[in-house]
Amino acid sequence: MRVVFLVVIGTLLLACDSVDHANHTADIQAEAPPRNFTPELLEAGKTIYEKHCKRCHGVDAVGSKNWQVQGPDGKYPAPPLNGTGHTWHHPKAVLIGVIKNGSPGGMGNMPAMGDKISDDEIEALIAWFQSLWSEQAYQIWYQYESAHNKET
Ligand code: HEC
Repeated sequence: MRVVFLVVIGTLLLACDSVDHANHTADIQAEAPPRNFTPELLEAGKTIYEKHCKRCHGVDAVGSKNWQVQGPDGKYPAPPLNGTGHTWHHPKAVLIGVIKNGSPGGMGNMPAMGDKISDDEIEALIAWFQSLWSEQAYQIWYQYESAHNKET
């Protein structure tokens, strides 16, 4: 599954490279609005993160060591959520789905957390880890987000 994902991303990147730059701007969505998260929301997100997520995703969401290497069970350790992994490749609806329902199809070790945390808490969590992303990662995420919202 990971391989398929990487191939898709690779193809997207190649497609980007081959696009004529004069036309490219037409394909790109408007710039992402600034991340105006309130300090209260970020504080709430961090608190929930530390209670429910830190034991796997690490301090400040840096991810587990060797997160790109499959464990003995053939599954991947918890990736970083701080923007140094690939969390910013996923539209928000996908992130919410993974947090609520766990790894898609039960194929990984992310547990379903939907019965432990509310929708508002998930909003705060996502805001908190998005506040850790670089501006570049956030802008690219916004492209995925806009494309996803256009499809649905
Ligand atoms: C028991 C360990 C564990 C806990 C607790 C846990 N996670 Fe995870 N998480 C994982 C693993 C392992 C993966 C990778 C899953 C896969 O490969 O399918 C993951 C994947 C994710 C992803 C997808 C990331 C990406 O880049 O694709 C998100 C988002 C996420 N977790 C958020 C959270 C949040 C938010 C919490 C707390 C509410 C949490 N996780 C709690 C182990 C955990």
